[in-house]
Amino acid sequence: MSAPAIVADGMRKTFKSVVAVDHISLEVPKGTVLGLLGVNGAGKTTMVRMLTTVLRPDAGRGTVNGFDVQRRPQDVRRSIGLAGQFAAVDENLTGRENLVLVARLNHLAKTVAAQRAAELLEQFGLTDAADRPVRTYSGGMRRRLDLGAALVTHPPVLFLDEPTTGLDPASRLDLWAVIEGLVHDGTTVLLTTQYLEEADRLADNIVVIDKGRVVAEGTAKQLKARLGDTVIEFEFASPAAAAQAAEVLSTTVEAGTLVRVVMREGSATLRNALNQLDAAGITPAHVALREATLDDVFLTLTNRTPEGE
Ligand SMILES: Nc1ncnc2c1ncn2[C@@H]1O[C@H](COP(=O)(O)OP(=O)(O)O)[C@@H](O)[C@H]1O
Ligand SMILES: [Mg+2]
Repeated sequence: MSAPAIVADGMRKTFKSVVAVDHISLEVPKGTVLGLLGVNGAGKTTMVRMLTTVLRPDAGRGTVNGFDVQRRPQDVRRSIGLAGQFAAVDENLTGRENLVLVARLNHLAKTVAAQRAAELLEQFGLTDAADRPVRTYSGGMRRRLDLGAALVTHPPVLFLDEPTTGLDPASRLDLWAVIEGLVHDGTTVLLTTQYLEEADRLADNIVVIDKGRVVAEGTAKQLKARLGDTVIEFEFASPAAAAQAAEVLSTTVEAGTLVRVVMREGSATLRNALNQLDAAGITPAHVALREATLDDVFLTLTNRTPEGE
């Protein structure tokens, strides 16, 4: 097996009293996608910035494409593309001009730069909008252009920091397809996300981080299996009843009147829960069983919900 495309070994970064990344280790085999999953403030961007040589780690080391991020930053930068939540494109230039600019900054000859820009515009469905200023683009178009800009030099390793945050569902699906295409062509991707669904769909492996630490890792399937694959949802007549039930069942209320319990001990979990509710004199209005999602894994591991969900 060849060396992983990305390695982090005990990386740590503090900002004054804030420990943003607290000894995180991870590996991304070549040609695979790692989903770095965590809520706002978990340490995702800091991790990406260290691995892309923007920030210097306080401790630990990292390599990208075989190059040490601290000793060979130039080689690392030549190996990577970086696209993020906030598209780094110039509003007043057209899509084509932005891509040509990036290509020229990367020392591509004029004709080669024009050619590469045209290719990327085509690949990302921006040919029709190519000669319009970016300020007229939708959020999804900007994100695609930003991704295109990150790919001008055909980097073997791509860092995507919350690539779909804030996008509407259709644009998100578009971008997922684009990312899948890149991976299909052999690009290694480290993707950060707050969306379980996104990690589930795109990532071969998932590292869940919370407060700068790894709290779980594995495939989506392994993470779900670890939790238990069935969830019981109790619906109550009032938020007060739900709150009381949550207390009795040692869990938290989700969305007003919904209380969620993971079936860790098979059907015994359901029986026990109903007995406990009965003993407390609370009757659920509705009970449903459903398959566990990565959201459940996330909630259970971090006791929090992803931002905006
Ligand atoms: N430049 C900085 N100065 C001070 N604190 C920072 C800085 N960058 C990040 N942090 C803090 O570090 C923690 C992790 O931030 P970040 O890596 O941006 O998380 P995420 O990308 O997962 O939302 C947060 O508490 C954040 O406020
Ligand atoms: Mg971030």
